[in-house]
Amino acid sequence: MEKPWKALELLISTIIVLILLTIAYLVIRPTTQNVSVLPTIEPLPTFGIPPEVRARIDTVADTSNARYLCPEFTDVGPIQLATCVDCIYYAVDKLHALSPTYVPPLVTTKLPGGGRMRPEVDVALTALFAAAQRQGLYPTVTSAYRSFSEQSFTFQAWVATEKRNQITEAQAIARAARYSARAGHSEHQLGTAVDINCSGCVAFDTNDPRNIALWAFFEKNAQDYGFVVSYPRGIEALTGYQYEPWHLRYIGADMAKQLYNMGYITGNGICLANFLRVEQQQ
Ligand code: DAL
Ligand code: ZN
Repeated sequence: MEKPWKALELLISTIIVLILLTIAYLVIRPTTQNVSVLPTIEPLPTFGIPPEVRARIDTVADTSNARYLCPEFTDVGPIQLATCVDCIYYAVDKLHALSPTYVPPLVTTKLPGGGRMRPEVDVALTALFAAAQRQGLYPTVTSAYRSFSEQSFTFQAWVATEKRNQITEAQAIARAARYSARAGHSEHQLGTAVDINCSGCVAFDTNDPRNIALWAFFEKNAQDYGFVVSYPRGIEALTGYQYEPWHLRYIGADMAKQLYNMGYITGNGICLANFLRVEQQQ
């Protein structure tokens, strides 16, 4: 009598094991559905708008503001190095840097204050200065092109200034980084950025009514000449830099007017770097 019982027990155990294995397979197998919903991760776009596609910039297909919103700025993450040959529209920011050897074509401007900048920027800035002068405003260039090594020196000088406040090196660097870019991360290296103050004003004096009037004029009109304020009021959390009404960057009138019409100057969350990143994918 023992043998048939043993055989039956073996059969039942085998069936139970088979049922358990089938259930386990059904639970853990990858279904077609959960494979297909995995997001496709697009490769990062290559940076820099090559000369042959610049002419397309005046026709922008998608003007939905949401695409241009900047994510909350964070100082951590890998730094992307520019691969552009001509980086005029490169989206320099704290996570996107220019090569130390990048030098744009440059001319020395005859405008008050002097300095070097790209030839097309000199032409546009001359027109902007003339428009300001017609309003009784007298701008002067305080800083224009800065090489990688000049930017390195500038940043270190600000760190040294901050250290006079009896703070640690790390605190001094963090403070300086709110208004000065590290080498490779400055728009000034592009030859398209200029710091502008009123002639006779102390540079960057935010209390001088002549500076205030000049910068207000820029906020209303600079886009017509191809310039935008790179670090508008109220979006420090997005750009990583405090409000800099004196710092204009040339991006051409088409894109500058588009940014202006989207209300970027009101600090509505659209920042220049993200705008340029979207634009170069058109
Ligand atoms: N002041 C700006 C952030 C620069 O150093 O480029
Ligand atoms: Zn500047």
